[in-house]
Amino acid sequence: MNAAGGPADAAIRRGGPLLDRFGRQHTYLRVSVTDRCNFRCVYCMPAEGLSWMPKAELLTYEEIGRLAGVFAALGVQKVRLTGGEPTVRADIEALVRAIAAHPGLRDLAMTTNGHNLERLAPRLAAAGMSRVNISIDSLDPARFARLTRGGELARVLRGIEAARAARLLPIKLNAVVIGGENDDEVLDLVEYARERAPEVELRFIEYMPFDARWHQSVPSATLRQRIGARYTLRPLPREGAAHGPARSYLVEGTALRVGFISALSEHFCATCNRLRLQSDGHLRTCLAHDDTPSLRDLLRAGADDLALAEAIRAMVMQKPEGHEAQLQGGVPFEGVMTRIGG
Ligand code: 5AD
Ligand code: SF4
Repeated sequence: MNAAGGPADAAIRRGGPLLDRFGRQHTYLRVSVTDRCNFRCVYCMPAEGLSWMPKAELLTYEEIGRLAGVFAALGVQKVRLTGGEPTVRADIEALVRAIAAHPGLRDLAMTTNGHNLERLAPRLAAAGMSRVNISIDSLDPARFARLTRGGELARVLRGIEAARAARLLPIKLNAVVIGGENDDEVLDLVEYARERAPEVELRFIEYMPFDARWHQSVPSATLRQRIGARYTLRPLPREGAAHGPARSYLVEGTALRVGFISALSEHFCATCNRLRLQSDGHLRTCLAHDDTPSLRDLLRAGADDLALAEAIRAMVMQKPEGHEAQLQGGVPFEGVMTRIGG
C-alpha cells in the first residue's frame, strides 16, 4: 500500500485527469457503504426490504480508504458517502477518518435519511466530515411514516438541528416529489427551509423509474410554477466548470437557495462528473446502466495502487453517454438504488 503523496501517487497523477470517451472529467465519487436501510421508502424498496448483500461481499473500510486514495490521485476532489443508509453501518466515523486522511479530498459529505443524526452529527464532524444532505419528503408525521414505512419525522427534524449545531453546512435537504403523494407539500418545504436558510438549502428531485415506473414523476417546471405562486425565483449562476446536476435559484427576499435535480426533464448527462463505487466494490460509471466492473476483485487479487488506477481509467473509458428515461415512458434505469447509492 502507498501512503498519500508516495511514489505510486505521483505516477498515477502523471497519467492526467480521469477522462471518458466524451471528454467528461471525473472529480466526484459517490461511495455506497451499505445496501441496508432502517427505512423502506415506497419509491426505493419493497415493504419487506431487499435481500441484503452478505458482509463478505462488502468492501471493508480499509479497502474503501485505500480506493479513496487512488481516486484522489486520479483527480477526485469530492467524496460522498451514501447507501442504503450510511449511518446503519457500524462505526461509520472510522471510515470518515480513513477517507479524510487523504489530503487531496477537499470535500467529504454524506447523504442520509437523518434518523441517526442526532447521535452521530457531532462525531461525524469530529471525524472530518464537511457536510450532510438529508432526505425529507414530507413534513406531515403520518405521511412521512407512510412514505418511509417506519421513519419518525420528529427524530429526523432533531437530526437536522443536530447537523446545524455540528456545523455540517450547508445542509441540503432533498425531497423526492411524487405525483399524488407529496407534490402538495412543495410550499411547506420551502417555508421550513426558508426559516433555516442559508444554513439549509432545499432541493427537489424528480423521481427516477428503476426497472419499471411505479410512481409518477413531477417535472421540475411544475414545481417552479407552484413556488412561483408565492415567491420569485431568481436563477443562480452554475458553480464552477464541474457544477452539480441541480439548477439553483434564490428565493427572492429570502436567504434560501432552492435546487431542482431533473434527471428526466432536464437531462444533465453531458456534464456528468461523477462515478459511483457500489458497496460490493463494483464501479458504476453511470447511474442508469448496470455495467459495473469489479474493483473489489482486483483489490483482493493483490493489485497495487498503480494497477488499480489503470483499471479505473479503463473502466471510465467505457462509461456510457447517458440514459434514455423520460418523464413518461422511455427506458427505465437499471439496477437497485440501494446498491448504487443515488
Ligand atoms: N428517484 C429519485 N430519487 C431517489 N432516491 C431514492 N430512490 C430514488 C428514485 N427512484 C433519493 C433518496 C435520497 C437520495 C439518495 O436518492 O430520497 O434523497
Ligand atoms: Fe432508505 Fe434512502 Fe431508500 Fe428511503 S430512499 S429506503 S432512506 S435508502
